[in-house]
Amino acid sequence: HANNQFCEAGIESGESTCGTSSSTNKLLIKGGTVVNAHHQHVADVYVEDGIIVAVQPNIMVGDDVYVIDATGKFVMPGGIDPHAHLGMDALGTTSVDDFFSGQSAALAGGTTMHIDFVMPINGNLTAGFEAYEKKAKNSCMDYGFHVAVTKWDESVSTDMEIMVKEKGINSFKFFMAYKEFIMVNDELLLQGFKKCKSLGALAMVHAENGDAVYAGQQKMIELGITGPEGHPLSRPPMLEGEATSRAIRLADFVNTPLYVVHVMSIDAMEEIAKARKSGQRVIGEPIVSGLALDDSWLWHPDFTTAAKYLMSPPIRSKGHDKALQSALATGVLQLVGTDHCAWNSTQKARGVDDFRQIINGVNGIEERMHVVWDIMVESGQISVTDYVRVTSTECARIFNIYPRKGAILPGSDADIIILNPNSSFEITAKSHHSRLDTNVYEGWKGKGKIEVTIAGGRVVWENNELKVVPGNGRYIQMPPFSYLFDGLDKKDAVYLNSLKAPVKRAKSTT
Ligand code: URP
Ligand code: ZN
Ligand code: ZN
Ligand code: ZN
Repeated sequence: HANNQFCEAGIESGESTCGTSSSTNKLLIKGGTVVNAHHQHVADVYVEDGIIVAVQPNIMVGDDVYVIDATGKFVMPGGIDPHAHLGMDALGTTSVDDFFSGQSAALAGGTTMHIDFVMPINGNLTAGFEAYEKKAKNSCMDYGFHVAVTKWDESVSTDMEIMVKEKGINSFKFFMAYKEFIMVNDELLLQGFKKCKSLGALAMVHAENGDAVYAGQQKMIELGITGPEGHPLSRPPMLEGEATSRAIRLADFVNTPLYVVHVMSIDAMEEIAKARKSGQRVIGEPIVSGLALDDSWLWHPDFTTAAKYLMSPPIRSKGHDKALQSALATGVLQLVGTDHCAWNSTQKARGVDDFRQIINGVNGIEERMHVVWDIMVESGQISVTDYVRVTSTECARIFNIYPRKGAILPGSDADIIILNPNSSFEITAKSHHSRLDTNVYEGWKGKGKIEVTIAGGRVVWENNELKVVPGNGRYIQMPPFSYLFDGLDKKDAVYLNSLKAPVKRAKSTT
């Protein structure tokens, strides 16, 4: 399928349109149930030049308009994946899905925008950003960037400012794990959080206690446990809970909002629940693998099978998955990512004798929308409106691009999916659109199929066929000071007012 999965005409000509369905810049989606995070109703959606122009019943159009019948189907904002790594370099190799193949896969699965993580080069943010600008040139859907901060000095601090003021960045990720590579200490966290606050940028953390993980790994090796199962055993949920709690408290100390990426365990989720209950602005992002899978696979006798499930924080034991689903359903956790980071079996095989050498990462960018529909909506845990909220709208709000993204409203970008609740899907590595040779959801079947994806006003997925063009994706600048920052200054003022006047003590007479 690798050769014919994309519209050849479109790629070769490099034109912005291809095929009959997208050869017009005018689209009408007729008779579907239009779903936004706040409301759903039966209406037509009319699109011109990549923008939604009208959402209302019975829109009449001329015959130069491409019409799609959505009767009995859901018309929803395209998915936004807040967390994916395309074309990521690690341990001397590059992940197999670059921006084009990863985004093609995303579009086939109903995701129309993703936010990637710029990895600095030797700690340098600007160098990292420029490298990612190049990686993203062949994008076929819209994308944004977070920037990771892996060391601290004046130039990093200045670069953070440049990123926010000139480059469209409004979030920075700090890794509390990966000791001896990119791990940061509490001093850096505090400095980074303070800087984020001053810039109106959201601080994000990969929350695991990296020192303890390191010790846990040594212990497993000493015990002779060198296979993939050594990975979850070496970094148990308590280490995720500890780091989550520490990051939350440091963010509270600084009084800045915090976003915890890939929440994988009950331990971490409960720290977030507690903080939110006390009024702190903490966002928790579960990812599909954490919601839908358990770690039993890591004990599989076949190394390749076991290794494909290896990521950090680890996929947890049975029970964590259901608890995370409940937390998502009740608003303790707010939006779903994937952490898509695709390494082929041969790349994972470098760790065949030592789990510490297995490259971390699982797939999900293509599967997220279907699997979340299946486990959350089909199971009756959330409404269709909440599905839109956790897969699209909340991400757009948090990263301050709502309602351009995350909504079916006049004026919004025409990133739209049509989901048929009576049709079914099946996931296999043979039929998926990622370049990955495996799939952690292999054999997963469910009801609810995304039949059409429209990105930037173009039909890019229809009749199980992709029509994507490299270069059609745009970089979406994300402005600072999202709603999460509203009122922070007032809270700071209340705090300052609460400080009692310094005690005036008489000079010592001795
Ligand atoms: O295993 C993972 N998560 N790989 C990607 C890097 C990260 O920590 O997000
Ligand atoms: Zn074509
Ligand atoms: Zn991470
Ligand atoms: Zn990640």
